[in-house]
Amino acid sequence: MTIGVVGGGQLGRMLAIAGYPLGLDFLFLDRERTAPAGQVAPLLTAEFGDRERLRELASRSDVVTFDWENVPVESLRGLPCPVRPSRAALAAAQDRVSEKRLFERLGIPTTRWRSVESRSELARALSEIGLPAMLKTRRLGYDGKGQAALRTRSEAEAAWERLGAAPLICEELVPFDSEVSILGARGVDGATVFYPLCLNTHAGGILRVTTAPYGRPQLQRLAERHLGRVLVHFRYVGVLTIEFFVRAGRLIANEMAPRVHNSGHWTIEGAVTSQFENHVRAVAGLPLGETRALGHSAMINLIGRMPPRARILAHPGVHLHAYGKEPRPGRKLGHCTFVAPTAHARDAWVRRLLPKLAPGIRIP
Ligand SMILES: Nc1ncnc2c1ncn2[C@@H]1O[C@H](COP(=O)(O)OP(=O)(O)O)[C@@H](O)[C@H]1O
Ligand SMILES: [Mg+2]
Repeated sequence: MTIGVVGGGQLGRMLAIAGYPLGLDFLFLDRERTAPAGQVAPLLTAEFGDRERLRELASRSDVVTFDWENVPVESLRGLPCPVRPSRAALAAAQDRVSEKRLFERLGIPTTRWRSVESRSELARALSEIGLPAMLKTRRLGYDGKGQAALRTRSEAEAAWERLGAAPLICEELVPFDSEVSILGARGVDGATVFYPLCLNTHAGGILRVTTAPYGRPQLQRLAERHLGRVLVHFRYVGVLTIEFFVRAGRLIANEMAPRVHNSGHWTIEGAVTSQFENHVRAVAGLPLGETRALGHSAMINLIGRMPPRARILAHPGVHLHAYGKEPRPGRKLGHCTFVAPTAHARDAWVRRLLPKLAPGIRIP
């Protein structure tokens, strides 16, 4: 069985690495000839909207999935094999406004927001939502790109100059206590599984560190209920992620990703079944695997610069994942994971390694 994957980044590469032991084959499509997945599987090179190459991908695959959510939804219509998760789920996650509407429709608390397409709409949104606020492009944002925090009216003007060419969304800036995410998977048969909540530390809009399990049973149940509603709503197949702000013991949904997620990388070594294997199992129509955590995990992203392999591996117990990408400032080049018997031991490990791997970053 061959899984066709639109997008050949590190997520796709880790999908393939998880699927090979199950005897599955992979075929990727990416814009870049040097896409990381191309180092482990055959790769077609084309634009994501190239109907002809997408048809070729689908005709050589049994199911098509994606590792990048900004694939033009229209170009996935009418392919000769199933697309999982569905185009509807993909479409909802591509637009921050439809994402907010979905959360509201499903009773999932989210930030207060206004759609903004003109200077006057921005002014109105700011008087209704108040300052500070966040202004974001509705589409194509990732790793904090296409967004600006607004603390003053003059910052709002500068942000409009920078971002205003595209449709925008303005949100309240949430003074969160922490950021968490939940990942879950739904199979073709409707079975669902959920991973333990992850605690995420971002800097400059980019995820730097994840630790899991978060270990608040009440929030875990609530997050599962929220994610479960989205899974059922789309009759979703595959892994789905929701990012939340935690504020005064409540969850406020920030955004969702219809795919495997950076905050779930710890599951490769830290859970019975990784997020990548469960996504592959789901889209291939196979039974889902257990999601239980095997200990207390930490994942540190390696961004912009790859420390020498030997230096990382000299730390006992560390697992290294290098994505085979050219270094560039702000680019995710790899990650490393550590699984400890206690949360205390894990956090001590993170505090010891962070100054070397991610100077200036601190965990809560
Ligand atoms: N409304 C908000 N209030 C406070 N912080 C925010 C808000 N929106 C985004 N952020 C911060 O920026 C990060 C990236 O924003 P996000 O909406 O998740 O976009 P991306 O698609 O780039 O991940 C978040 O993880 C959070 O740290
Ligand atoms: Mg995000």
